[in-house]
Order: sequence, then structure tokens, then C-alpha cells
Amino acid sequence: MSSKYNKVVVLTGAGISAESGLSTFRDNNGLWDNHRVEDVATPEAFDRDPELVQRFYNMRRAALKTVEPNLAHQVLVQAEKEFDAFILVTQNVDDLHARAGSQNLLPMHGELLKQRCVQCHQITAIMGDITLDAVCVQCERVGTLRPHIVWFGEMPLYMDAIMAALMACDLFVSVGTSGTVYPAAGFVEIANQVGAHTVELNLEPGDQNSQFKQSIHGPASEVLPAFFNQLNHGTAQ
Ligand code: APR
Repeated sequence: MSSKYNKVVVLTGAGISAESGLSTFRDNNGLWDNHRVEDVATPEAFDRDPELVQRFYNMRRAALKTVEPNLAHQVLVQAEKEFDAFILVTQNVDDLHARAGSQNLLPMHGELLKQRCVQCHQITAIMGDITLDAVCVQCERVGTLRPHIVWFGEMPLYMDAIMAALMACDLFVSVGTSGTVYPAAGFVEIANQVGAHTVELNLEPGDQNSQFKQSIHGPASEVLPAFFNQLNHGTAQ
């Protein structure tokens, strides 16, 4: 590897999966399949209408069967082999990074293909629907399973590992995220504070654009391969 960087953190958002056919959030008037975020992605919504929330996530889980990883996901699999340290943090709950083959992956907003028992906290794989009368395999209670998704107002996952990687990184790359949702939106500031090079790769300038030392705008499947290719040939900043 001829790049001058060797401790890399990449943050991805919905934009990296857009070319696979999964719609982003904010490009859709802030609606998810015509639902307001407050109606489907908060603990209060789940308490109020568990059937609606389960149906919403069951549909999103089923939609994963219709999509495949794209070139941008694949480039990140190759990139993780080329640096001494490489952590991929994703805000996405789809499984496209995992399916592409990324290993050092931290899905900070949870995973559609997992469910969690609200009573015993056991996390298990789920490929199909979570039903309201589903039984937890661990504690055998009925109706206690929820999507293993971080809803608004809940604590993102893997924050200790993410903070440690950010504090040590010399390159931070943000791909396909609008930079509107914290704490992920604040990662660029932390990377800047430790002196890392910070790069935004996005279709358009995101909310945190002014914080990045470099930005390249375009579809992820074009700008991501070009960026890592340029690093390999030692011509990047
Ligand atoms: N290539 C690169 N970027 C793209 C592409 C593409 N092909 N298509 C769209 N984008 C960009 C959009 O311009 C937008 O800035 O991806 C960004 C997607 O932003 P959001 O829809 O806000 O998604 P994200 O930033 O991942 O949202 C963060 O918010 O709703 C919550 O928990 C949810 O994880 C999600 C979080």
C-alpha cells in the first residue's frame, strides 16, 4: 500500500445503498415508505402500535432479498485489506456491506436481519417476519421480540469502539450520508481534532460539508473507487 494513511475510518449512510435500489431517507421528503419517522422509528411508536412498526420493518427486511451490493460496497471490502487499521462504521441497517464481504464492520444503527428480546435482551438472526406472537428462543416469552434497530431517542451501538477508532485515525471518509443525524454527524469534528485528513464523498454537499478538508461530489459507485484508487497511486492530498 503506497498511501500515506494507515489508520482509516469510513462512515457510510443510505447514499451508498441508493445505487443498489434502496431509497434514502431525506431524498424521500423525510418519509419512509410514506410513514413519518415518529410513527415507525421510535420506542414510543412501538409501544403505541407494535403491529405497524413490525410491518414496516418486516417490509424493509423483505426488500433486502431484491437488492445486491454495488461497486461502492465492494471497493470498501478491498480497501480494508490495504491499510494497517480499517474500521467501517455504517448507519445503514441493510446487510449490503456484510454481504459484499466487509469484516471490520460496525453497524451503529442496528441490523434489519437481527431481532432482540425486550425482556432477556437475547439477539438472534431473523430472515423473515417478526410476528406479534413470536416466541423468544432464549426466555420463551411470547411477543417480546423487536427489530434490532436503534430508534430515535435510543443509544447507537459500538460507540466505544467507534470513538477509539476515530481518536486513532489519520484518514476519515464519509460516504453517502447527509450528516444530519448525531452522533454520526459529529464524527468528522472528532477526526479533525485528532489531525486526520477528512473527506466527504456524497452526491451533494451534506450538512457537515464545511467541516471536511476535502469533498468530492458524485455517485458513490464513481467517487469511492476513484478516491481509493488515487490514494493507492499516491496522488491524493
Ligand atoms: N451516491 C452518494 N451519495 C448519495 C447517492 C449516491 N448514489 N444517492 C444519494 N446520496 C446522498 C444524498 O445526497 C444524501 O445526502 O446520500 C445522502 C443520504 O442521506 P440520508 O437519506 O439523510 O441518509 P443518512 O445520512 O444515512 O441518514 C442517517 O438517519 O433516518 C436516520 O437512522 C437513519 O441511519 C439513518 C440516519
